[in-house]
Amino acid sequence: MALDVKISNMNLQDLNLIADNLETDFDDFWNYNVLKGELENGNSKYLVAKLDGKIVGFAGIIPIAEEADISNIVVHKDFRNMKIGFMLLKGLIDLACSLRLSAINLEVRNTNVYAIKLYEKYGFEVCGVRKKYYNNIDDAILMRKNLSFL
Ligand SMILES: CC(C)(COP(=O)(O)OP(=O)(O)OC[C@H]1O[C@@H](n2cnc3c(N)ncnc32)[C@H](O)[C@@H]1OP(=O)(O)O)[C@@H](O)C(=O)NCCC(=O)NCCS
Repeated sequence: MALDVKISNMNLQDLNLIADNLETDFDDFWNYNVLKGELENGNSKYLVAKLDGKIVGFAGIIPIAEEADISNIVVHKDFRNMKIGFMLLKGLIDLACSLRLSAINLEVRNTNVYAIKLYEKYGFEVCGVRKKYYNNIDDAILMRKNLSFL
């Protein structure tokens, strides 16, 4: 049965609710201050996923010119593989379409198979590779999806 997950715009209050467990339960790549800056910069757009009022994921895009870059998409470790990432990604695509952006770009570590699978499922295609981009070891895979408003 599908989970009753609600996707909505993310604000500072949402971030404050997960401040204490952000790096342990979500992802240590993004810390509180960086995310706070993202929410306050007036350009980035963030979504939050809530299950029974509990925050179980968040994701953001940065509109740049006519396109969007996905800055992050993160699901709480206890709630992964339940299609929440899928719902957040759909939310980001809908958001980019509503802003009349023409494409979404992202980069993902080559070892992050679940994320790559998620992006491919939503029609993202590999458009480049940055060799040894992460810690001079892992490659960054560049992916892109063109958007259509028709
Ligand atoms: C990547 C991430 C957002 C995916 O979120 P999620 O809610 O777990 O993903 P979904 O449930 O929507 O599943 C996406 C695909 O990955 C697969 N998958 C995800 N977790 C899996 C697991 N533990 N075992 C097997 N398959 C898994 C799913 O099966 C699904 O593919 P399918 O529909 O063909 O079966 C999540 O793993 C995460 O937060 N990772 C840490 C942060 C990160 O790396 N973000 C991406 C940065 S580019």
